[in-house]
Amino acid sequence: MDFISKRSKYAVNPLREDDGIARKLRSEGKNVISLNIGDPPRYFPTPKYMIDAFVEALKEGHTGYGQADGVLELREAVAVHYNRAYGSKMTENDVIITQGISEALMFINSALMNPGEYGVLFRPYYVQYISNLKLFGGNAIMCNYDEKNNWNVDTDDLETAIKKMKAAGKINKIKYLLLTNPNNPTGTVLERGILEKIVDIANNYGLFVISDEIYDEIIYNGARFTSVAEIAKGIPHAILNGASKNFDATGFRLGYMMIPEKDEKSVTLRNKLAEYAAVRLSSNVPAQYAMAKALGNAEAHSAAIAHMKTEIEDRVNHAVKLLGKNPYLRTIRPNGAFYIFSHIDLEALGFSTDKELTDTLLNEEYVQLVRGSGFGMPSYIRIVSLAPKDILDTAINKLNSFCERHAKKRG
Ligand SMILES: Cc1ncc(COP(=O)(O)O)c(C=O)c1O
Repeated sequence: MDFISKRSKYAVNPLREDDGIARKLRSEGKNVISLNIGDPPRYFPTPKYMIDAFVEALKEGHTGYGQADGVLELREAVAVHYNRAYGSKMTENDVIITQGISEALMFINSALMNPGEYGVLFRPYYVQYISNLKLFGGNAIMCNYDEKNNWNVDTDDLETAIKKMKAAGKINKIKYLLLTNPNNPTGTVLERGILEKIVDIANNYGLFVISDEIYDEIIYNGARFTSVAEIAKGIPHAILNGASKNFDATGFRLGYMMIPEKDEKSVTLRNKLAEYAAVRLSSNVPAQYAMAKALGNAEAHSAAIAHMKTEIEDRVNHAVKLLGKNPYLRTIRPNGAFYIFSHIDLEALGFSTDKELTDTLLNEEYVQLVRGSGFGMPSYIRIVSLAPKDILDTAINKLNSFCERHAKKRG
């Protein structure tokens, strides 16, 4: 009997697949260093202004269901925040609150995808994009972030892929083009010119653009971030953001989708997503009131994010320097978010897959990383660089000596 659905095979998360091994090693007394999850509160306690706002929301009695697509106070605060930051002209009606971008991705894919339809993704992709796309019957048109061009989008490659779909009469089967900026796993902040070209291509072929900007305030090394909100004026698009990273509150489970244009696709999608929100009644209500307050507390937020950003810049650059000592790795320095995505020479180290390597590293050195194939790119590893430098030192020194040892063994 097929009790479990066929599609459920796509309900996988490579970020957490080795948690069982890590737990077992810990129960045996091993000091496991887990650099697999991008969870800022593990190393940066959620700031006081956020905690206070949450406690206040509870004390004020915001403990019942809220409006399905988000409480008015938060939808207004999100619109004001984006308008101020990026010169957009959103109103509360353009915003839908979700339980994290994770839920937004489920809603969007469920609302848009029929079997045999497509989303344009770029490799390496954030792991949830592919699982959600496939869970709802979609397929990926896989384009590339180009390592040779600092992981910026290869726009020629993008246009060729879309032209091919057009020539095959399938352009209307493409439901969206989904970007991550700044990127997880590469830490790339897309150049404005490249972003403009992508939006241009999407506009020429009538593609709906979705921009996941969850790390938009974690930018460093002198990089400059451009939001799709700034350049897609008049072009159908959605922006995803939330409390998890910039506000250091992953556990609030709070995301926001902004769909500001008034064309037919934007309006029907926004309305449909509000219906999806109603199906699950409401998202976390005290967190929404807390977030509305936090978005209004620009001073406390600026201080908190400035501290986190400086620390992350220092930690990431330090980790990149140490990884640079390893001749089996190749690393492009990130300028945003807090991930490092390194190419690893599996052959020289005697491993046939990246999974074999990350599992062996965990079992031999008690360091937990994520295999690149989880992001669509075998032969890479992702290292979360949120931990303090002494922990990063220990973990990367272990990785480096692990590589030396295995290279020698291979001969
Ligand atoms: C690019 C990207 N989008 C979305 C998410 C998930 O965000 P949320 O906590 O809002 O569900 C993450 C989490 O790591 C992410 O890296």
